[in-house]
Parts: sequence; structure tokens; C-alpha cells
Amino acid sequence: HRIVVLISGSGTNLQALMDAVSAGEIAADIVAVISNRPAVGGLTRAEQAGIATEVLDHKQFADRAAFDAALADRIDAYQPDLVVLAGFMRILTPAFTGRYAGRMLNIHPSLLPAYQGLATHQRALDAGETAHGVTVHFVTAELDGGPSVIQAKVPVLTDDNAESLAKRVQQQEHIVYPLAVKWFTESRLRLSEGQVWLDNE
Ligand code: GRF
Repeated sequence: HRIVVLISGSGTNLQALMDAVSAGEIAADIVAVISNRPAVGGLTRAEQAGIATEVLDHKQFADRAAFDAALADRIDAYQPDLVVLAGFMRILTPAFTGRYAGRMLNIHPSLLPAYQGLATHQRALDAGETAHGVTVHFVTAELDGGPSVIQAKVPVLTDDNAESLAKRVQQQEHIVYPLAVKWFTESRLRLSEGQVWLDNE
């Protein structure tokens, strides 16, 4: 399997996937990492591993559709079986998400459908939640709304702030994302008519 990973920042989820691939846990190749922002940590991680990297700066495009069209062309040049959004902070057009339906995953730091959007940890704290977590889902036209593949739940502790809670959630991110990608590359996971199907071993 060929995987293209899209990032916008530090790339800790990218690193978790790279580690799982090099440990032989995921039988696939990350063939390219594409960022919409230059000089971010995730690009350095990919370069150090010899993975092709590209920057597509969204500010250089007239509008969202133009950026998405250029991004799709760059992605398709690598002929991926799976596109992984890993800390990719762009809202994607329905034309783009439709193009990769069933073969694009995203990770969102909340127990969806709760807390779609940004600043999820602070919002969970402000709401007095006692539990929070992370969701890996197939990407659809609905922002942070696609069918869930896997979730991990963590406790919210009384002395938590957004940073300590985010750290606890990120620990789970780095466990569940490689697992979801592993299932997909083993053809055990698929999206059909909006439903997630996971075949046992
Ligand atoms: C993480 O909180 C992740 O949940 C969200 O983006 C943040 C940064 O991810 N999708 P990464 O460290 O760049 O992988």
C-alpha cells in the first residue's frame, strides 16, 4: 500500500505512523508528506526519513477550490491507496473529499460528534467534562463529521489544563492512528454506503 500524509505542523502523528511502518507493524510505504505550511516540524521528520516532501502554500491560491485542485494533483502524482490527514489544518471542499471518499482518514482530538472544530481540550475543560479523547474517522464533506473508525477515551483530571489534557490525548492519538491505518492496509477496514466495516482477523 502507498500512503500520502498531509500535515500542517509538528507531525507527531506522522512520526507515530513512520515508526509503525519502520517497525513492520504497518505493511505499507509512506510515499510522500505534503504540508500547506513551509518549514514545519513534520517536514523535517519526513526529510530525515528520506520521504518525499512537498509544500503547497494555500496563501498562493485564489480560493479554496483552486488550492484543493492543486493539492489533489500533487497527491495523485504519488498514486496513493490511502491519504492520511495528520494535523492538517485546512477545511476541504466537497469536491476534494468526494475524490478520496473511502480512502482518506483524519484524526480529531475529541470524542466525536462532541467538540467538532478547534480548541477541543479547552472547550471540554470549560464544559466540566470528566472524559475526553480522540477519534479517527473517514473524511467526508462534513467537517470533523465522517464515520468513526476508532476512538480512545481519557480521563479529565481536576488539575488538568488544556496542555496537560492535550498531552494525554496525544498519547492515545499515537496509538489509535497507526492501528486504524494498519487495519486499512490489511483491507480489514472499509467505508461502504456511509457505514464503517471492520473485518476481524
Ligand atoms: C493533534 O492534536 C491532532 O489531534 C490534530 O492536530 C494536532 C497536531 O497533530 N489533528 P501533529 O502533532 O501535527 O500530528
